[in-house]
Amino acid sequence: MQIINGKEVSKSTRDKVKVMVNDFVADKGRVPCLAVILVGEDPASHTYVKNKILGCEEVGMKSLTFRESKDSTDEHVAEIIKSLSSDETVDGILVQLPLPKHLDERYLLSLIPDCKDVDGFSPNNLGLLAMNTPRTVSCTPYGVMELLASTGVDVAGKNAVVIGRSNTVGKPMAMLLLNANATVTVCHSKTVNLKEITSNADILIAAIGIPNFVTEDMVKEGAIVIDVGINRVDGKLCGDVDFANVSSKCSHISPVPGGVGPMTISMLLYNTLMAAKYE
Ligand code: GUN
Repeated sequence: MQIINGKEVSKSTRDKVKVMVNDFVADKGRVPCLAVILVGEDPASHTYVKNKILGCEEVGMKSLTFRESKDSTDEHVAEIIKSLSSDETVDGILVQLPLPKHLDERYLLSLIPDCKDVDGFSPNNLGLLAMNTPRTVSCTPYGVMELLASTGVDVAGKNAVVIGRSNTVGKPMAMLLLNANATVTVCHSKTVNLKEITSNADILIAAIGIPNFVTEDMVKEGAIVIDVGINRVDGKLCGDVDFANVSSKCSHISPVPGGVGPMTISMLLYNTLMAAKYE
């Protein structure tokens, strides 16, 4: 069994992005810039945003952070997004999710122009991915594909099972795997005989948001297991996979922390650079 080292793969992606950022600056005479909007006080979101800002510094990109009160109105957040949308020095706009419940997430995200949607969440960006002509791909599933590539195993023809059907992870994940010629099944809370389906997976992606949900009896011998979960149990980070028991059955497995998490930010940096190049 091999543990997939997300930190290592992430470092190598960031090194490549850094070189490309240098070339971009030399060519265009300006530095790519990511704007991040964070509303409220969710401690996990504050940590993620801090790491995104640090990531920008690491690869030589600029960042702007808008830390807004938890009582912010839709109008207030909309004003910020609109102003960043028309600012030619800003290449990417990211609204950190989840937003406080009283805000209209769908409306606010719809204000981000497709060309600055570095999360790849817009209907157009998701549609382009569905048609296998991707432009900006959601960072987490994109990072998972990089982790799979790092194993050297060809995804084509494999049975891939995705647990979770969110617009931000499960659906784009399934489309990426399908575009890579895997045979893809998407499971969710209403799936019947989940264990039967997951037990047939050569590649199993857990993105359901329930701590230690995937147990040994759900995994095929020799499978590649990627854990997208970031859960906190008694103040400790844990994934959606019961790592201690599942790992001995796998050919490759990604840990939490140190698996998918660092990749998400690397792909965000890559997407921001690509957004800077679009104009
Ligand atoms: N919250 C957790 N993950 C993400 C992400 O990838 N993008 C945004 N915008 N918010 C998140």
